[in-house]
Amino acid sequence: MNIILLGPPGAGKGTQAHHLVHAHGMRQLSTGDMLRAAVQAGTPIGETVRGIMARGELVSDEIVSALIDAELLALPPEAGAIFDGYPRTEGQARELDAILARHGRTLDYVIELDVDEDALVERITGRFTCANCGEGYHDVHRLPRVPGTCDVCGSHGFKRRPDDNADTVRTRMAEYRAKTAPILPLYEQRGIVRRIDGMRPIAEVTAQIAAILGFADVSQASMEGSGELPERPSGKAAADAAHQTR
Ligand code: AP5
Repeated sequence: MNIILLGPPGAGKGTQAHHLVHAHGMRQLSTGDMLRAAVQAGTPIGETVRGIMARGELVSDEIVSALIDAELLALPPEAGAIFDGYPRTEGQARELDAILARHGRTLDYVIELDVDEDALVERITGRFTCANCGEGYHDVHRLPRVPGTCDVCGSHGFKRRPDDNADTVRTRMAEYRAKTAPILPLYEQRGIVRRIDGMRPIAEVTAQIAAILGFADVSQASMEGSGELPERPSGKAAADAAHQTR
């Protein structure tokens, strides 16, 4: 199973990909995460894209398509791929077709998270993550249970993305409207687009995606949506898992 999660910044692509990785063993291919890792490592690609990302503009098609190609090469053929934040232009969509064909894969679904852009600015500017394990938090919606201490790994350092400020978010939204939204018709023609209300609570969005993909966790996810949240994973396993998917 190979899917694209499509939606503007803050729509919940990473959040939902994270669930699919943990619940169904799929692999998340996030170009944003790959680029941030390159920036942090100070690689030549990282130095090329650092300023572009800080301004909220799109990195070149060549760079991101090469990253995706390399990631797919390393992916076991039986592992399902979640494309998170890629493709973002018509050029990338064409390139993805070619890459998938080279790797003997087909695209099953494009899941569009339909959201209210004004609400997204608040979602994005309030989010922060544990600097150690990558667990995600929010200033309003999800603070650590013990102030200043990560629920998952117990460390005390947190970080925010440099592009998560209101001005840059607006640029990222504009880039999405101008360059990414226009790729949807390409996939609509193929009959593989499924639109979801991304403004619903996270667990409900998860349940809708599970239903589309035919996964059996619909009832559990619905239960989460009703407020009966299961224990979150803890300890090293959770920290390792969180690390792998960011
Ligand atoms: P990237 O890292 O892809 O960022 P993005 O698309 O702007 O998306 P985000 O990660 O901000 O949001 P998300 O949809 O994953 O939301 P999340 O789940 O975190 O790209 C960053 C930059 O890299 C780009 O600007 C560009 O420069 C470059 N780049 C990357 N890919 C590229 C490409 N292919 N081509 C060119 N350039 C590229 O959720 C956000 C918050 O909302 C969280 O706090 C979460 O807890 C909360 N939340 C999620 N769902 C819900 C819900 N249903 N209800 C309430 N809160 C929710």
